[in-house]
Amino acid sequence: MIDGKAYGFFLKNSHGMEFSIKNNIMTIQIIGGNFDMYFFMGPTMDDVVKQYYKVIGAPALLPYWSLGWHQCRYGYKDIWEVKDVVANYKKNNIPLDTMWIDIDFMDGYKDFTYHPQKFPVPEVKKFVNDLKKNHQYYVNMIDPAISTTKQYGPYERGLEKDIFIKDKYGKNFIGEVWPGKTVFPDWHHPNILEYWTNEIKLFKDYAMTDGNWIDMNEAANFCNGACDTPYEDAPFVLGEFNPRTPPFAISHFGTGKDRASLKTKNLDMDATYYGGLIDYDIHNIYGHMEAIVTNKALLNIDPVKRPFLLSRSTFPGTGKYAAHWLGDNHSEWPYLYYSISGMLNFQFFGIPMVGSDICGFVDNSNEELCARWMELGAFNPFGRNHNGLGYDSQEPYVWGSVAEASRRALAIRYKILPYMYTLLVRTHTHSEMILYSFAGEWPNDSKAAGIDKQFLMGKGILITPVIEQGATSVTGYFPEGIWYDWYTHESFSGPTMKTLTAELVHIPVHIRGGYIIPTQGPSLTVYENRNKPFELLVALDASKKATGRLYLDDGVSINVNGKFSEIEYSVENGTLTGKGTYNYDEDQKLHEITVLGVTSQPSKVIANDKEVSFDFSKNTLTIKNLDISMNADFTVF
Ligand code: GLC
Repeated sequence: MIDGKAYGFFLKNSHGMEFSIKNNIMTIQIIGGNFDMYFFMGPTMDDVVKQYYKVIGAPALLPYWSLGWHQCRYGYKDIWEVKDVVANYKKNNIPLDTMWIDIDFMDGYKDFTYHPQKFPVPEVKKFVNDLKKNHQYYVNMIDPAISTTKQYGPYERGLEKDIFIKDKYGKNFIGEVWPGKTVFPDWHHPNILEYWTNEIKLFKDYAMTDGNWIDMNEAANFCNGACDTPYEDAPFVLGEFNPRTPPFAISHFGTGKDRASLKTKNLDMDATYYGGLIDYDIHNIYGHMEAIVTNKALLNIDPVKRPFLLSRSTFPGTGKYAAHWLGDNHSEWPYLYYSISGMLNFQFFGIPMVGSDICGFVDNSNEELCARWMELGAFNPFGRNHNGLGYDSQEPYVWGSVAEASRRALAIRYKILPYMYTLLVRTHTHSEMILYSFAGEWPNDSKAAGIDKQFLMGKGILITPVIEQGATSVTGYFPEGIWYDWYTHESFSGPTMKTLTAELVHIPVHIRGGYIIPTQGPSLTVYENRNKPFELLVALDASKKATGRLYLDDGVSINVNGKFSEIEYSVENGTLTGKGTYNYDEDQKLHEITVLGVTSQPSKVIANDKEVSFDFSKNTLTIKNLDISMNADFTVF
């Protein structure tokens, strides 16, 4: 941002690189390839993002259910424990849409296998069927590295197709990941899609998954280069190109003098892909290419449904194929704080469906931290509680206060799902974002520029999370406009700093004057939620105006074949209208309208030519028991 104007700069290059900023000067050091530079002239942050998405591709159209709550951990000991988790969510009335299983389900951590005792296929099948009956979903892990165990189908078939990355001698490159010694699929190989589709299809025949998690795809390796044929890096010789010792050592596992060789926890730099490409040149797109191939494989297997993928490694454009989580964080307060800027960055980066490991991954979480993290987690576009191996359980029902905090915050999330889904779809169709930063939204407000502890969900909802240990209040900044408390509907005007009380189970949420939020529910699953009547929450601005929108479709089809509705809501001169195009047949009705910021009681309210009863108190007008179709225009005044 310069003088309230936003600019963007994109350097497209898949080589190792290092950025550093000193005395306001940025230095970029790249170890090869082209300098493909793009400048985006804005002038708003929204424009820069649109311009950038035009280059890298807009985010994927993701299924509606992926906005529901997700539970995962590394270390569920067997399928029965996983089933208990699902049951405990229900028992504690905490929403859950998707249950995840990490590498624990695998036999010897080998991809595409189930452990015969701990995760026997018939039990997993039953588990999946039960989830289906409850309209819940199942996602599990596919790591790229394939075990070199003899007579292991995915390895043998890969050898046959010769689709693994080679070492400099032309043999399969051998590294080590969870299952021990492994080879690595070459996503650039012409036969890779056929191979990967077949493996995933065979795997899904055991138990159907609704999506997959692609991890360790940097590609991560536990050895430093090839495990069995280690070598000493030859010293750098001027004028000679040796990918193993580039002239400039970027910061890789260490900075300054301690920078490690590029093969550290990595493939060798001369590991070779189809067509002679070497890892030195394309290392940074390994995960991106895996996301593309896996997305295509999922579409090969089911051409109707939207693929759901979660990828750890990404590159500009990966958002077209996968969602993202912020990686292995720690169960410590600063990580709760970092997750906010992490999520905001990924809105710009084209992967708006993003979230952190809620309650923290490394180390034991604790009641207070987990309560606060579940509260903020409810407003992560991708909301998943995930824990590391060996740490204390941290599902939200483990502590009473965390359960209560989760119920309260997730009740808001599920209530605003129609609003969130509209945001999600518009990332795909209109290159918009799900979360918005203060700096981008109020470019001429110097105070807003420095705010990194609050954010907007869409443009109409402001989140002020508590991210400090021991705090029972939080001070937030509220820029120009009218702000309504989500819970009490009390309002105040900005710009102002405000200290809000926030007991352990409470996260401050405000609705921005001028916005109309379509809501439904809340329920415990997306499916139930979609079977609840609609409501509109109208927050008037100072000139008594507000606008909003709603997008509706079946939530799962990759091609909705024109069967979608788009409704624009607006309030002007005391009249609320809904106008749209209606090609999706929505059964639910608009049942209730709440208007915040009404200064005087109206003498009567007419909804679609019929006088209706209403309540009016404390500047809030509530109209209940409406029966307005979601498939036609309407007027209320
Ligand atoms: C990696 C992932 C983590 C996962 C673990 C085991 O560390 O980042 O999320 O739980 O591997 O698969």
